[in-house]
Amino acid sequence: MLVRCAGPKKVAYEFPTAMAPAIQAEYAKQCDKGKILYDINCSRCHTTKAKGKEIIPDFNALQLETYQIRITNETHENNLTETKVTAEELSLILTFLAYKKKNEVLK
Ligand code: HEC
Repeated sequence: MLVRCAGPKKVAYEFPTAMAPAIQAEYAKQCDKGKILYDINCSRCHTTKAKGKEIIPDFNALQLETYQIRITNETHENNLTETKVTAEELSLILTFLAYKKKNEVLK
């Protein structure tokens, strides 16, 4: 099941088919907020471009452990402090990254 959003800047999300439509709608709202926060806090280091398209990395579940993110590496320790990105913001960002549509493999 795929929730596709209108507009070129929007990212599509992929939710488990077992997830009820009302819950999916709720997650989609959180993902929209998370996308905005990702653009502000993460994209400058993590979004790449290929063929003119923005590529947001497909982090896996292990990489998206909330408590780990802040201490993953020295760059994060300095840039992702609690005062810069609150726990709530980080959680929205991680929800967005977990459910965003995976990148097609570019050949
Ligand atoms: C100032 C640059 C910078 C910012 C801002 C930044 N990161 Fe990173 N991030 C890095 C670097 C450098 C690495 C380590 C190399 C890599 O895997 O790309 C990394 C690694 C990661 C990893 C991989 C961890 C692993 O286990 O391999 C994840 C997930 C991640 N970042 C998520 C985020 C999220 C989410 C944000 C925003 C809240 C963010 N980063 C903001 C620089 C940054």
